[in-house]
Amino acid sequence: MSLPKQARPGIAPGPRCSELHCLRCRGTLRVADGELTCEVCPATYPVDKGIPRFVPEDNYAKGFGYQWNRHRLTQLDSHCGLPISRDRVMSASGWTAAELRGKSLLECGSGAGRFTEVLCETGAVVTSFDISSAVHANAASNGHFPNLLLLQASIYDLPLPEESFDYLFCFGVIQHTPDVERTFKTLFRYLRPGGRFCVDVYAAPISYLHPRQLLRPLTKRVPPARLYAMVEKTAPKLLPLSLALSSVPVAGPGLARLVPVAIHRHLGLRDRQTVRDWSVLDTFDWFAPRYERPQTRRRLERWTRDLGLKQVSIHRNRGLYVVRGVK
Ligand SMILES: C[S@@+](CC[C@H](N)C(=O)[O-])C[C@H]1O[C@@H](n2cnc3c(N)ncnc32)[C@H](O)[C@@H]1O
Repeated sequence: MSLPKQARPGIAPGPRCSELHCLRCRGTLRVADGELTCEVCPATYPVDKGIPRFVPEDNYAKGFGYQWNRHRLTQLDSHCGLPISRDRVMSASGWTAAELRGKSLLECGSGAGRFTEVLCETGAVVTSFDISSAVHANAASNGHFPNLLLLQASIYDLPLPEESFDYLFCFGVIQHTPDVERTFKTLFRYLRPGGRFCVDVYAAPISYLHPRQLLRPLTKRVPPARLYAMVEKTAPKLLPLSLALSSVPVAGPGLARLVPVAIHRHLGLRDRQTVRDWSVLDTFDWFAPRYERPQTRRRLERWTRDLGLKQVSIHRNRGLYVVRGVK
């Protein structure tokens, strides 16, 4: 679907706000004086540059907000000129654009919106949220899609009707939450019976010890702007070394992993600036998260059984498990 490319940060919340309800009493919300007001109880929710907010501004995912606003465009297919995010969504989920068109889809933890862009382009009716200020980066890039409703909200407390979505999509998120089992199980409340899902999670046990696992207990305590400045300075210097090591026959990948910088040889990024931007972004993404809890296949199997999910497949792809099926 081709839609006009014009960002709409600062828009007033659109008509789809009527799909939201009050977190306290589930009453209907209406827009009044730049905020959402509950028609039943005294609760109000701010609308920040056009995006309704249902979480405190200061929360455990502040580093993600910083990261995605610094790298609003880096991973968007429309920016880097390669279908990296599109291929990942479609091959991991097995969904097609034709089947998604017109269907309601919930995207959880959308970050800067690399996958929001792909999902909106299919013509699905997308509701996308993130707990962090990353929603503003997403709005600046994807706010022009008329089929997108964006919220700043947490998986643990959503102003959305349960069992209402045809599709559920969540990539790169659940390992970064304080209680991964609770997160996983909560997500499925919003999917209708018979609805399809695709969720990924860092896989455990990890296949090798990486400098990020050793350093993150320290680096996650550094304020985001300071940590980012450190990464921005060091990553471009380490990048040539890591790339050179990675091309050593046989031992290359193992040697490259000793250098604490993210590289993306397998993606075929086109120019030096793009290679550098992805590297700085992903190196920061290794070191900043408050929570990072990879999960075993056995645990994922148990959770899907507990939920009575059907046609479940759990597939390992590099360091991730992709879990998909039907509710
Ligand atoms: C590694 S980023 C992935 C973003 C995006 N899905 C992607 O793959 O580019 C993880 C995202 O999860 C969000 N997140 C963490 N906990 C969350 C929660 N409880 N509710 C909603 N979003 C959450 C973070 O703010 C962050 O933007």
